[in-house]
Amino acid sequence: MLKRFSISLEEELLEQFDAYIRERGYVNRSEAVRDLIRKEFIHEEWEQDGDVVGVVTLVYNHHQSQLQEKITEIQHDYYTLITSTTHVHMDHHNCLEVIIVKGRASRIRELAEKMIALRGVKNGKLTMTSTGHHLH
Ligand code: NI
Repeated sequence: MLKRFSISLEEELLEQFDAYIRERGYVNRSEAVRDLIRKEFIHEEWEQDGDVVGVVTLVYNHHQSQLQEKITEIQHDYYTLITSTTHVHMDHHNCLEVIIVKGRASRIRELAEKMIALRGVKNGKLTMTSTGHHLH
């Protein structure tokens, strides 16, 4: 059930908020506020080292010596956290790997950081989300 409450904001802050929601294409302020609150709760779950889900995205140079093997090896070390891995050959030189992970936040960070730090990984990102204990 939706409940209403009102928020008082300084004019300048409200203008900034309206610009923020325009840029992101929100249809109204309520939806934007809901998303900000949810995002903060997800952040909290990660901070408290709870059980979370996440997505690791890697773009890497496929010609880098041993890189593919190292990425696979790390994933085997953390296999209990990995739900699925998708590999896309982006072009002649670049691969994209998307790894969906689930488990303790600190272990997921560890796994992501190890892969992202490898030489030849051009862009690596961990997107944190949550199984949603606090979220409805
Ligand atoms: Ni590839």
